[in-house]
Amino acid sequence: MPAFENAKPTLKLGEIVSDEELIRSIRYFIAAEYEAVQMYTQLAEMTDNELAEAVLLDIAEEELVHAGEFLRLLKELSPKDWKKYEEGFEEVEEIIEKLKK
Ligand SMILES: [Fe+2]
Repeated sequence: MPAFENAKPTLKLGEIVSDEELIRSIRYFIAAEYEAVQMYTQLAEMTDNELAEAVLLDIAEEELVHAGEFLRLLKELSPKDWKKYEEGFEEVEEIIEKLKK
């Protein structure tokens, strides 16, 4: 499990955050969405309560939508971050191509 205790945004009501703090907060929220997916899925797998399992898995799917929303927002706020993701995509594409040969 990721441990972000010291990385949580320190947002204060009524305060305007800098662009950099906004970007860092969005990155943190993306990680929190994936952590929620993991926790809900794990608990769904551990319970024998059919209703709880179904609801947890449904919410886990919604968290993936939230992650997508935050990622799209991050792309807008920090194109530099997105460039790094694209680098990662390209590196995997290269591996996929190598494995096809
Ligand atoms: Fe969420």
